[in-house]
Amino acid sequence: MNTVSVKILDNLYYLGVNDRETNLFENMWPLPDGIAYNSYLITDEKTALLDTVKITKVDGFVDTLKDILGGRDLDYLVIHHMEPDHSGCVKTIMELYPNVTIVTNKKARAMMDDYFDIELDNYIEVKNGDVLDLGERKLNFVMTPMVHWPESMVSYESTDKVLFSQDIFGGYGSLNGTIFDDEMNFEFFRDDIRRYYSNIVGKYSKQAARSLEKVKALDINIICPVHGIIWRTNPDLIVDEYIRLANQVNEEGVIIAYGSMYGNTEKMADYLARFIAEEGIKNVKVYDVSKTNASYILSDIWKYNGLVLGSCTYNNSVYPMMNQLMYILKMNKLKNHVLGIFGSYGWNGGAVKELTEFASEGGTFEVAPTVVDTKGAMKEEDIENLRTLAKEIAEMVRKDDK
Ligand code: FEO
Repeated sequence: MNTVSVKILDNLYYLGVNDRETNLFENMWPLPDGIAYNSYLITDEKTALLDTVKITKVDGFVDTLKDILGGRDLDYLVIHHMEPDHSGCVKTIMELYPNVTIVTNKKARAMMDDYFDIELDNYIEVKNGDVLDLGERKLNFVMTPMVHWPESMVSYESTDKVLFSQDIFGGYGSLNGTIFDDEMNFEFFRDDIRRYYSNIVGKYSKQAARSLEKVKALDINIICPVHGIIWRTNPDLIVDEYIRLANQVNEEGVIIAYGSMYGNTEKMADYLARFIAEEGIKNVKVYDVSKTNASYILSDIWKYNGLVLGSCTYNNSVYPMMNQLMYILKMNKLKNHVLGIFGSYGWNGGAVKELTEFASEGGTFEVAPTVVDTKGAMKEEDIENLRTLAKEIAEMVRKDDK
């Protein structure tokens, strides 16, 4: 069994599943510390299960659910979001509780047809502002399209002011005994929150910012997301953090990401990093795109306001691993960033040309004017050009001048 239940309030329970087996979330984002899938159960005059968990965790999840219900039937299954890490056990729950009424919105209902081969006899369709009365508690539904999927919605329990926020306010990482925000140091979890946000929600930041405005307007005591910890003591902390992430509010610092085959471009990255540090920028990180998964690079790019991309030329083009990073960055519609470019080539160029195209298509950048494109190994002139590039970048990212 791999499910924990914790009472949050009278008749409100957390059913948590830790997944430390999955290596890659969505089969692409590393999970070195696992991930938690959270589900919630309200046992009022009516019983309501709010979301489920990934199918791989069904056995423990169902055992815990039965324990808490103590022989009661399940009246409602509320589906806030249809991604399979939360809807994975819907079919099982419907088979186990044939009288259950599914509560979701029109788009999620259509997705249920797409994902599951099931008849839906008992169904309540909700839209923005609708209320589900459970007795003492009432769930008010708020649509949050594209955070994370088009059908995503949250519900607000108005009696105890609890927000069931699905993916919003989540983070990577299993919950290691600490379930609530007052049981965990925020800084311990903060990088996992930013990496999750930038990897999963980043592309939809515009929509996220809109949804977060709706959420910010609610009077919230407790936030119950489907990943990560429950915020019962300082919910404003995570709301404000998410608002910063959605608006790409970043700190002074520079990420240098390079692709290099035989070390020439790598050497340029190291020189540039040193020159930027000499300009007084204290947060400088260098990443080899062949070594570090884009998940981490993207997360740090989200954190800092300076980005420098360097690539060797490979088959007259940008290095393939750099191309992958550029593709991911382009999807995420970066803004509030300074961009610098450098590269190298053996006999004829290509990488810097594509990096320059990225500067105009890959996001909204303030681009450093000096571009360094080296033939073969660096010469004295290239080193001086890198020094100039470093000065420009440092000047552009420095926050205390602005
Ligand atoms: Fe946690 Fe979008 O699913």
